[in-house]
Amino acid sequence: MNAVVPLTRKEKTGKRLAGTLRAVAKTPKGMIPKVRRPKFDFADSGDSLPRYWWDNDPVKTLLLAALSASFPAGERFFIDSVRHYQDRITDPELKKAVKGFIGQEAHHSREHDLMNGFLQERGVDLARLDREIQGFMNWMRKNLSPERQLAHTVAVEHFTALMAEEFLLKYDALDQMDPRMAPIWAWHAIEESEHKAVAFDVYKAIGGSEFKRVTEMMLVSIMFPLFSSIHLVQLMKEDGQLGNVKSWLGAVNYMWGKPGVFRKLLPSYFKFYSPNFHPWNHDARDLVEKAKKKWLGDWA
Ligand SMILES: [Fe+2]
Ligand SMILES: [Fe+2]
Repeated sequence: MNAVVPLTRKEKTGKRLAGTLRAVAKTPKGMIPKVRRPKFDFADSGDSLPRYWWDNDPVKTLLLAALSASFPAGERFFIDSVRHYQDRITDPELKKAVKGFIGQEAHHSREHDLMNGFLQERGVDLARLDREIQGFMNWMRKNLSPERQLAHTVAVEHFTALMAEEFLLKYDALDQMDPRMAPIWAWHAIEESEHKAVAFDVYKAIGGSEFKRVTEMMLVSIMFPLFSSIHLVQLMKEDGQLGNVKSWLGAVNYMWGKPGVFRKLLPSYFKFYSPNFHPWNHDARDLVEKAKKKWLGDWA
């Protein structure tokens, strides 16, 4: 009879280390973010667009609206933090990728600005949130070193890649949205996945500190959910939905219960803290290709 010989403590540690120290991925060759210039005509949606355009649900819809309010100012900050080091990049692929990154983020900023203006006209006060976020970004520009600002971008880019790959493109969120609102979110998610490693690769190329990368992620992990929650509560209150228990419980269940989209992306989130982290350790190109076919059509 074959007895199973238990691993010694040393062997167990070795096995664990082998898992942790596996080869670090790199950005795939030729992975240059493509700059697309879609136009989303929100005015066309007019009054026929439901007020709660994601799953007819106030919490879900206003959470995305709050996130959208943070994009124009946030993405201008990301662009500037990367652009600061643009001249120091010597690798030709990374130079091209930086241009693609700047082009993509500039268009996200522009289209979300238009979308926010459209929602503002429908009585969702995103202009105030935009001003607050702009104020915070200005504070960071003045008070943080360029390296810390880039570390901030690297951390938030990990968040956006997770949201894109392990939430929007993976589950049925886009299908639950009104078809006039889903394409902008699909386009944005696809491009966030395409350029997810650009800021990280620039940070590595300039010799960015690991301490700053990790501590900035810790700060972002507190600030991002905190600001998003405060903004969501404010928007819910302004919409007279603060006491909508059904919507709150439904959204909490969706995020943390079943399917538990946020709960399920926690393991990927924590990988950021590994010294071997690289955004392309998680290759989501299959998912992105499928989404491109479904949502981008001719301009994929
Ligand atoms: Fe973006
Ligand atoms: Fe991005």
